[in-house]
Amino acid sequence: MTATAVVDGQWGDTGKGKIANYLVPLLNATCVARYNGGPNSGHTVKINDIILRLHMVPCGITYPNVLNVVGNGMVINPEVFVGEMNEITSKGYEIRERSADGYGNLLISTKAHLIMPWHLTLEEEIEQAKGDRMVGTTKRGIGPAYMSKVEREAVRFFDIDSQERFETRVKEVTQTRRNQFGLQLKKIAPFIFEDSENALVKERLEAAIGSYFGEVYSKAAETYKYCQQLLPYVGDCTGALLDAMDRGENVIFEGAQGTLLDVDHGTVPNVTSSNATVGGIVTGTGVPLKRIDTIVGTSKAYTTRVGNGAFPTELNDEVGERIRKVGDEFGTTTGRSRRVGWIDTVILRYADSINGFDELAITKLDVLGGLDKVKICYAYEIDGTEVTDFPTDETVLKRAIPKYETYKGWPYMTSQEYISSAKNGGFLKEIDTYLDRLYEEVGVSITMVSVGSERDETVLLK
Ligand code: IMP
Repeated sequence: MTATAVVDGQWGDTGKGKIANYLVPLLNATCVARYNGGPNSGHTVKINDIILRLHMVPCGITYPNVLNVVGNGMVINPEVFVGEMNEITSKGYEIRERSADGYGNLLISTKAHLIMPWHLTLEEEIEQAKGDRMVGTTKRGIGPAYMSKVEREAVRFFDIDSQERFETRVKEVTQTRRNQFGLQLKKIAPFIFEDSENALVKERLEAAIGSYFGEVYSKAAETYKYCQQLLPYVGDCTGALLDAMDRGENVIFEGAQGTLLDVDHGTVPNVTSSNATVGGIVTGTGVPLKRIDTIVGTSKAYTTRVGNGAFPTELNDEVGERIRKVGDEFGTTTGRSRRVGWIDTVILRYADSINGFDELAITKLDVLGGLDKVKICYAYEIDGTEVTDFPTDETVLKRAIPKYETYKGWPYMTSQEYISSAKNGGFLKEIDTYLDRLYEEVGVSITMVSVGSERDETVLLK
């Protein structure tokens, strides 16, 4: 039995889906489990011209006999999930529900939380209220759904058991919000309620609040029709994973977002709302820590970031523009253009310290082909001092000036040329120098290098 985790070492979008999908046959894995995030993630798998953009369904779905586990640490929008399932089946991949003799190939945790329609509205309002401090979220309701989870005023997959149970729960949580809103109003403007002259205002206000929350409730109750479609896939994910491991089978944990987007260890406040680092596996699936054997870190051969926040190695010049264009650096989920910069080993060392990487997969190496020079950031200068440890305080990170080593680039090559050169004597010496320096700076063996968008355009170095 082996349990292998694929965890992003940067700000997301490093090809975790592709690497996890590539590892399934290599490790003969029978389960792929997601443990954090939700429809904010975008994992692209390209197999023989079929492009699958997965957001919540684990990437093992392309293999008929792999169980895909949607862990309890995830937040799921039922309508979007049903849409994703339709998209997967329309591309020729089968999704099987649970039957009397066992699981199908997709299992959603009873303990996972639902993204409800009010979460989307709330996110718009919060982002707007922050003004120029807005995070630049994916607007999928992720933050508010996790807020409800922590507040313990949320709907879980346990609650979709029957329409009655679902509607009772929706009523309870909307009523809490309505009560809370009423209490706040009484505190802020007590005169409306105390002054008899305001009786009409009070009456009209109460009617308006009643109709607003009535609408919130009915919109949320409509979500049930999508929940009904998901019900045959809901079950005990922790049990399924532990059973598979007890039978000696191999399991892959597919991370989402990235180390620097982790709600605890990332560049707060411009982060997502879940634990994208390795600790998220334990809380987000219920599998004990000691059962995870290998942690594969993923990093692009350069760095990208979506949304706001400090980015020391960002390139706002024609080199950055070229990398963005060649690397097709536009968000899978939102289509937003990604910010681009040189690879930053200060970040990767930090990611290794948090996650304990056993191996590193470097993706999109081919995108750098054709550049005269390539740079590796090995340290920052902050307030006149050289710093090699990553400062997680964004206000400090904003002052970081990257210190680079510059290396000769290598020519443009097709993915096939990279693969055949690797087979016949190894990569060009300029590429080896670049990878060797990354290894020396980060201290983690590079075992995989991806050189094209197809799943199999990956070179195994071990
Ligand atoms: P949220 O996860 O939608 O709340 O967004 C919070 C921050 O995380 C924003 O800066 C997003 O751009 C970023 N983010 C969330 N998911 C991803 C992802 O899968 N890839 C890259 N950035 C992401």
